[in-house]
Amino acid sequence: MSLVFHQTPERAAIWREKFASARPDMPFHVWPETGPKEDVRYLVAWKTPDDLATLFPNLEVLFSLGAGIDQLNLANIPPGVQIIRMVENSLVEGMIEYVLWAVFSCHRDMFRYARQQREHVWNGSHNRPARLYRVGVMGMGELGSPVLEKLVALGYDCRGWSRSRREVAGVTSFAGEAELDEFLAQTDILVCLVPLTEATRGILNRDLFEKLPKGACIINCGRGGHLVQDDLIPALDSGQLSQAVLDVATPEPLPAEHTFWDHPRIFLTPHIASAAQSDSAAEVVLANLRRYEAGESMTGVIDTGRGY
Ligand code: GLV
Repeated sequence: MSLVFHQTPERAAIWREKFASARPDMPFHVWPETGPKEDVRYLVAWKTPDDLATLFPNLEVLFSLGAGIDQLNLANIPPGVQIIRMVENSLVEGMIEYVLWAVFSCHRDMFRYARQQREHVWNGSHNRPARLYRVGVMGMGELGSPVLEKLVALGYDCRGWSRSRREVAGVTSFAGEAELDEFLAQTDILVCLVPLTEATRGILNRDLFEKLPKGACIINCGRGGHLVQDDLIPALDSGQLSQAVLDVATPEPLPAEHTFWDHPRIFLTPHIASAAQSDSAAEVVLANLRRYEAGESMTGVIDTGRGY
């Protein structure tokens, strides 16, 4: 029974060490080295090699290195293989830091002051307290809920929207398609943290922008595929949106000639909002392996029908 790790050699070194001390009984191979292919029961990967079924005929569990699994080609994964997403504390903390930075920056007009600095303009506005800002987080799962808890603690007027109803203390929650418009109408700063599925692809589009109060900000920490890119610039140029903070794009890296780079109201970061840390991610996989081997259910199991 063996495990194959399919990622960069730097990350592999940390994982190898963790596995060597915690699971000396489990052969640990770093792709493209695999050992006997029929022995491979576990695969840890961001993206998988093609042709998984013939490559590893006895594969039982695929551990994704990402919080999202949209980078995986689900059609390529044999039906009996369980897929586990990465749910890990430092990934959650990283996302909290990024979203708080972006919300603060929108609330305190930092993107405007950065533009003003480039133009040598000294022009300040009186600041408004956090409680007057309605922050709406789409996605109230492993990332969205802890982000909302922090925003509540900072005094923002918080709303959350999710596919099925979730509760977070101090947050007004909305659920499903039927309550989306009401949620949007009350959101000055919109944070996208939903998983990318067929239901959420292109959810950040012109229609949605028009349902937000005029001058709203959007923060996309999900995937590039959530945003209809052609709809963004008209919404910013008309003032319907006042700022977009994008950590993700389509494609990544965003081509150098793309219009997003130079738009004064778009702040781009290169998909750095958050990622799993190798040492704690390895611990999470080790703990899940223990559960699996004991016949218990693992954390982060993907429902392939739902897509997350
Ligand atoms: C990063 O984007 C992840 O899904 O972990």
